[in-house]
Amino acid sequence: MNRLAGRRVEVLLSEEQIKQRVAELGRQVTEDYQGRDLILIGVLKGAATFMVDLARAVDLPLAMDFMAVASYGASTESSGVVRITKDLDASLQGKDVLVVEDIIDTGLTLKYMLEIIGAHDPSSVRICALFDKVKERKADVVVDYTGFTIPDKFVVGYGLDYAEAFRNLPYLGVLLPD
Ligand code: IMP
Ligand code: MG
Repeated sequence: MNRLAGRRVEVLLSEEQIKQRVAELGRQVTEDYQGRDLILIGVLKGAATFMVDLARAVDLPLAMDFMAVASYGASTESSGVVRITKDLDASLQGKDVLVVEDIIDTGLTLKYMLEIIGAHDPSSVRICALFDKVKERKADVVVDYTGFTIPDKFVVGYGLDYAEAFRNLPYLGVLLPD
């Protein structure tokens, strides 16, 4: 149990557990993308932490790009109606895209991202998500590489925030009520 900014955080996955799993995912991606034109695409800001760690665990030449999206509305659950605030820098034509996500919750954000990416005419598109919440999805998305399946609780750390705080925790934790 840790206390951060006055809030209690219960550790769900330790820094070491995450590190080991990211290394495994990196080895899998390295095997699967031999001789391909790999580009990692991350969704800011949550996926940035995982993406830079994953990239260093992949022993292949690769490119990286980021997109940023903002949800319309003030709900804590994504509505699936999103607006692009930072688009991709370059065309994806002929590229083998690996979409890197921090966490899949409803799946709505990812579904929207896949529509945008698909319109760029890439050679292939796969999804790598570090955390996958066990719950009924609102959007049907197939995740190709999953780090951990986790309970349907609000989690913070390793890139994930609560009101922009806690992204820099090296582990994944559950924010406990005060
Ligand atoms: P989805 O569209 O519901 O799948 O939402 C996915 C996005 O919501 C993720 O990329 C995160 O940025 C955010 N998110 C979902 N669950 C959590 C959580 O438990 N903690 C922090 N952010 C979350
Ligand atoms: Mg995200």
